[in-house]
Amino acid sequence: MLRYAAISGTGMYVPDRIVTNEELSTFVDTSDEWIRSRTGIAERRIADSTETSVSMAVAAARTACERGGVDPSDLDLVIVATYTPDQHMPSVASLVQNELGALRAGAFDLNAACSGFVYALSVGSQFIRAGTAEKVLVVGADFVSRFLDFTDRSTCVLFGDGAGAAVLTASDEPAGLLAADLGSDGSAGQHLTLGGPERYVDLNGSNAVERAFMRMNGPEVYRFAVKVMGETATHAVHKAGLTFEDIDLFIPHQANLRIINAAAKRLELPREKVWVNVDRYGNTSNASVPICLVEAEADGVLSDGMNVVLVGFGGGLTWAAAVVRWTRGLLDD
Ligand code: UT7
Repeated sequence: MLRYAAISGTGMYVPDRIVTNEELSTFVDTSDEWIRSRTGIAERRIADSTETSVSMAVAAARTACERGGVDPSDLDLVIVATYTPDQHMPSVASLVQNELGALRAGAFDLNAACSGFVYALSVGSQFIRAGTAEKVLVVGADFVSRFLDFTDRSTCVLFGDGAGAAVLTASDEPAGLLAADLGSDGSAGQHLTLGGPERYVDLNGSNAVERAFMRMNGPEVYRFAVKVMGETATHAVHKAGLTFEDIDLFIPHQANLRIINAAAKRLELPREKVWVNVDRYGNTSNASVPICLVEAEADGVLSDGMNVVLVGFGGGLTWAAAVVRWTRGLLDD
């Protein structure tokens, strides 16, 4: 019998600290008017020195486990999608696994930049569908503000910090991931980077000192995003054996309202089928799609039996789309 990976619980965490466009404009050469009109962002959450990618991931994961009725000790696998781990090793996932008491679980991080949560959802679902796991925790968490250059106005106004999580549980009924489309074009990777060690000594003893900052060619990434979002969503919907008539909700990566609107227009999706919260959080990278899932469900827009399309894009350059059948409330009963 075919096995499915139902999404049985979701959770999110965002830092308390709200930084408005007005506040940013006091130390960055920008304005509320520019940011709102070019991106749709009004404010974002910024983590403080007590917070880490791990602490945010743990908070989101705890809620997802509670809401999914899953005891962390029953998890088989923890996957954290992140490109801002607190350190290279141990992974964020191993530290989350420990904090949760997920003592039986394997754990690893996955880096597909802002497409990472959709990649991780796909990977976690395959473990369940193959019969090698029953319960999988998938988290998207990023502390991007640590890597922003606040003298670079073309990137620093776009991002915020946060985490989102989903617990996947084996099910015999069609639920959770119905199809996925994953892609990458490394030949365009230079358009969106975060990189380099902070201090590097090569074999000849010469130094290169560089802080790792996010760098982006905004217009190139913008063009790529509008094109690829429509294409990958279409591939995933076709792979699921559905058409866009069957899709009840479209949850795009929240990077820029203009990108979201342009992609929705290409797909001929009406506004009420497109979830948007970029105004309140900015681009939270790997957290953006799962935060949308939590908020859309809380808002009553996402309900049982719905088919949802999730789309991510970002550094790599990468892209990913998933078609998900939502059955969370059915599992609650
Ligand atoms: O998950 C990661 C994915 N990343 C993204 O999705 C980002 C994709 N790209 C974008 O969202 C847009 O390209 C941006 C929002 C980054 C930029 O919007 P744009 O309409 O493409 O603007 P631009 O880069 O072409 O810049 C237009 C002008 C420039 O000034 P000049 O050269 O025309 O005088 C920039 O210097 O806007 C200026 N500018 C700003 N002005 C005020 C750039 N950033 C700012 C700023 N405040 N924050």
